[in-house]
Parts: sequence; structure tokens; C-alpha cells
Amino acid sequence: MRLLVTGGCGFIGSNFIRFFLDKYTDASVINVDKLTYAGNLQNLSDLSESPRYHFIRGDIADASRMEEVIREGVDAIVNFAAESHVDRSIEDPSAFMKTNIFGTFVLLEAVRKSFAVPKIRFLHISTDEVYGSLGETGTFTEETSLAPNSPYSASKGAADMMVRSYYHTYGLSVLITRCSNNYGPYQFPEKLIPLMVSNAMEDQELPIYGDGMYIRDWIYVEDHCRALDRVLRQGRDGEVYNVGGGSERTNLYVAKSILDRLGKPHSLIRYVADRPGHDRRYAIDFSKIERELGWKPTVSFEEGIDRTIEWYQIHREWWTKIKTGEYLDYYKRMYQDRQNHR
Ligand code: NAD
Ligand code: TYD
Repeated sequence: MRLLVTGGCGFIGSNFIRFFLDKYTDASVINVDKLTYAGNLQNLSDLSESPRYHFIRGDIADASRMEEVIREGVDAIVNFAAESHVDRSIEDPSAFMKTNIFGTFVLLEAVRKSFAVPKIRFLHISTDEVYGSLGETGTFTEETSLAPNSPYSASKGAADMMVRSYYHTYGLSVLITRCSNNYGPYQFPEKLIPLMVSNAMEDQELPIYGDGMYIRDWIYVEDHCRALDRVLRQGRDGEVYNVGGGSERTNLYVAKSILDRLGKPHSLIRYVADRPGHDRRYAIDFSKIERELGWKPTVSFEEGIDRTIEWYQIHREWWTKIKTGEYLDYYKRMYQDRQNHR
């Protein structure tokens, strides 16, 4: 199989490419990535010499480039490319609209115009955040109405709708997955878990938004990759599949677990101003993918967090290189603001 992956230099995309090439020794991957602040060539440096891996620096919103890549012949596309951080979307939503909505549209158009026979399978990676927020009970199913609350989740929801329409209108072979919060190796240290782990390792404060009782469902990235493989291979055209970790935790619990494992004091926790429009709770009903495709998560939160901490300990150089220059400017601006407004 010749697979086109977009956004493969980011967190989930790089984990997926490595997983896929390891599992299918006759497969090859073309990775198109714009290398934004979140894209890092180092995430796949072990593959740079592989004849089965080809990197192209490119923007999914560049129609002629994407048409050219697809015309060269691909069997399937997995679209990870996105602006992915809610806080950045609150600061400036424009890149989210361009990449997440328009970029997805460009890819769909390129597939439509390719008239490929057999059809190119298009797997679009979405998020549970498109469903909005839950109260104390309940879970998101694939039938839950979309009610996104942040510019990020709104852009992802809009893309999902676009993907759906290309199935119904043009008969494209599309699939959508909506996954909960991932964690694991190579996650950019602006997201909760890698930020908390790396800050704790450096004896820096762990900023907790609001009361810290916001709940996310956590999935170890390798479990997500296995789910995507199942959906790509066996999913039904035009369908949505929820993917979850079955591990709901409050943010405060996550922060304390990390501090305990690293032998650091809870006094490093610093309550800061809340995120505007902060979704209170996410929880996923993943019974559809379990029933239809025989997938379920295998890594418990406890095991996953141990593995993740160990990875960040061994790969200190990877994240200390990121936590300089532009990153520090962003971090300082963001947290000074949050501390001032508490
Ligand atoms: P990430 O921010 O780590 O990586 C995104 C990658 O996309 C980067 O390599 C970046 O350079 C690339 N990119 C951005 N704009 C691009 C463009 N215009 N053209 C080509 N490449 C571009 O993100 P991630 O956490 O790996 O998330 C990957 C996907 O999974 C996203 O679509 C995200 O919405 C979705 N998702 C993420 C999570 C999560 O917990 N991280 C959960 C559910 C769904
Ligand atoms: P995040 O990792 O940004 O993912 P998402 O917003 O897509 O769920 O945040 C996870 C949760 O952690 C969310 O409730 C916001 C909270 N959070 C903090 O309390 N402090 C932080 O520094 C960050 C980055 C997030």
C-alpha cells in the first residue's frame, strides 16, 4: 500500500507512520507536512534513510501541490495535518480555519479530481471535541450532535461536515475518527501531559486552569494508532468511529500523578485563570469500533503515564530543544496573562 499521510511530523502522525511501517513491511508512506511550530523532522529521523518513507515539505491548503502528489498515485490518505491546540485557537483562530477547514477541502477536491480507480480511501482524523461538553454523566456517541465550543473544535467540526458531504455528494471513500485526548512520546510540550511532565522535571510550576476539576478521557497514542489502522483497513465508507481510552481523569489528578511519579511536591501546582469557553468534561462511547472492528484500548492510564514519563526522561534533549526561543515567548505571554487574570 502507498499511503499519503499529512501532518506526519507532528505527535500522532509521527507515531502512526512508525507504527504503520513497522506493521506492514511492504507498505510505503509519503508524508506531507508544512513544518509549523508543531512539526519536527526529528520525530521521524530514524526513518530518513528508509526507501519506504518519503518526506515532502508542503501545505495541505496548496491545491496544485496536493493534486500533483495525489496524481503520482496513492491508495489511501490519512489526514492528520491540523492546527491542534485550543489555547492557540483562542489567541488567533485564523490558521485553524485555513488549515483545518480549507486544507481539508483542498485534499478532498484533489481526491475527487484524481478520478482514481479503485477509489482512494480518505481517513480524516477528528476529535471528540466537536461534540462540545458533557455534564457529570453521559458519553459522546457517533450520533451526538456536533456542538463545538472553541475555534479549534469548530474548525474540526466544519471539516468533518465537509468530509461527510464528499461521501454523500461525490461518493468518495471517506472515514472519520473522533478520538479523545492522546498522550505519549513526541507530544509537543504545550499540551497538558508533556507540559506537566517537562515542567515538573525542571522544578517549574504546573499551571492548572480554573479549579482543575475539568475531565478528559486519556488514550495512549499507540492505542489510537491501532484504532486508525483498523478503521483504514476495515471501516465502512462514510462512517464515523469514536475512539476512546476509557480513562477519565481530572486535570488535577493528572498533575498530581505526574508529580508523585517524579517524586516532586504538590506545591508546584499553580492555579491560574481559566480558559475561556473551557469544556467541562469529555467521555467517549467507543462501543461501535469495538463491536464492528474488534478494537479496544489496551494501555491503562497508569501504564501509559509511566511509559510517557520514562520517554520524556530519556529524551530530555528532544523537549529542551523545543522549550527555547519562540516557545518561551509564547509560554511567558500565555501564563503571565493567566496569572495576572486569576
Ligand atoms: P500536532 O500539532 O502535534 O501536529 C500537527 C502536524 O500538522 C504538524 O507536524 C504540523 O507541522 C502539521 N501541519 C499543520 N498545518 C499544516 C498544513 N497546512 N499542511 C501540512 N501540514 C500541516 O497535532 P497532533 O496532536 O498530532 O494531532 C494530529 C491530528 O489529530 C489533528 O488533526 C488533531 O486535530 C487530531 N486529534 C488530536 C488529538 C490529541 O489529543 N492530540 C486528539 C484527537 C484528535
Ligand atoms: P490540552 O492538553 O490543551 O487539550 P484539550 O484542550 O484539547 O483537551 O488540555 C487538556 C486539559 O488540561 C484541558 O482541560 C485544559 C487543561 N490545561 C491546564 O489546566 N493547564 C495547562 O497548562 C494546559 C495546557 C491545559
